[in-house]
Amino acid sequence: MNNSDKAHEQTTLVLGGTGKTGRRVAELLTARGLPIRIGSRSGTPPFDWADQATWALALRNVAAVYLTYYPDLAVPGTVAAVRTFAECAVESGVRRLVLLSGRGEQAAELSEQVVRDSGAEWTILRSSFFSQNFSEGNFLEPVLSGEVALPVGSVGEPFVDADDIAEIAVAALTEEGHRGQLYELTGPRLLTFAEAVAEIARATGREIRFVPVSMEQYASMLAAYDVPAEFVALLTYLFTEVLDGRNALLTDGVRRALGREPRDFTDYVRATAASGVWGVPAPLEASR
Ligand SMILES: NC(=O)c1ccc[n+]([C@@H]2O[C@H](COP(=O)([O-])OP(=O)(O)OC[C@H]3O[C@@H](n4cnc5c(N)ncnc54)[C@H](OP(=O)(O)O)[C@@H]3O)[C@@H](O)[C@H]2O)c1
Repeated sequence: MNNSDKAHEQTTLVLGGTGKTGRRVAELLTARGLPIRIGSRSGTPPFDWADQATWALALRNVAAVYLTYYPDLAVPGTVAAVRTFAECAVESGVRRLVLLSGRGEQAAELSEQVVRDSGAEWTILRSSFFSQNFSEGNFLEPVLSGEVALPVGSVGEPFVDADDIAEIAVAALTEEGHRGQLYELTGPRLLTFAEAVAEIARATGREIRFVPVSMEQYASMLAAYDVPAEFVALLTYLFTEVLDGRNALLTDGVRRALGREPRDFTDYVRATAASGVWGVPAPLEASR
């Protein structure tokens, strides 16, 4: 086998490879000495979901894809994009697709079906809200401001750690035994958003209030911060559809995939507080 055959044999395209799960997947694969390509607008070559002309080059010599869509599989037009991407991928020689999906999202299940029907080996990671939304996503700014206002009340969400998702993605991309598996991924515990914010406040020693607001108040708050209308629609959809109680159940997906329990929110909070991303790390006594 010559060198270029070898590259084709192994290269993994990590879509969203600078994002919450993709960055971790890319790091884990690289640590194992496996060749990767970051599939994002800032990648080389760039990959843009909105520009199909970028896809073929990103797929060149790729054997497996970690498929994350941006911003969300529930956005209108996504199923067609995922279908066309999966067709291009299989035509170009991709043999394995590992799809990141969202739990409790009917629209996302249509894209899951596209991946199942693609002809490639597939694994689906149907995930709960990531813990890392509080430190790397939409909830970081509110946490830093000291007030997290969201249109959600007492519903419990089993926040899942992006490190667990990445470990499962890498197992599915590189090992046997995950083909044709749909893993529903949750953390080990249900927390309300108020409880999650309270844990962060305790660990950082900062005052951070959780304020439940109505959907209308939330939408106008986002609009006042110039959040684009389609993103407002996505967030309000997620809070209406995904956080209506349908996901307030734990699953054994992490254990099934990795043979161990999922990482707890408290461990995530402790490590993240120590990293300083939420401000000056609290002294150890205060974070206990
Ligand atoms: N966050 C959650 O709690 C959660 C839960 C379940 C499922 N999911 C799913 O996870 C996926 C990712 O969501 P996320 O919010 O966590 O985002 P993310 O993966 O943290 O972030 C964005 C990534 O997408 C890339 N990106 C942005 N626009 C792009 C475009 N037009 N074309 C190609 N790449 C683009 C960014 O890189 P560049 O800026 O370089 O392009 C970055 O690598 C979504 O499909 C979502 O449904 C998320």
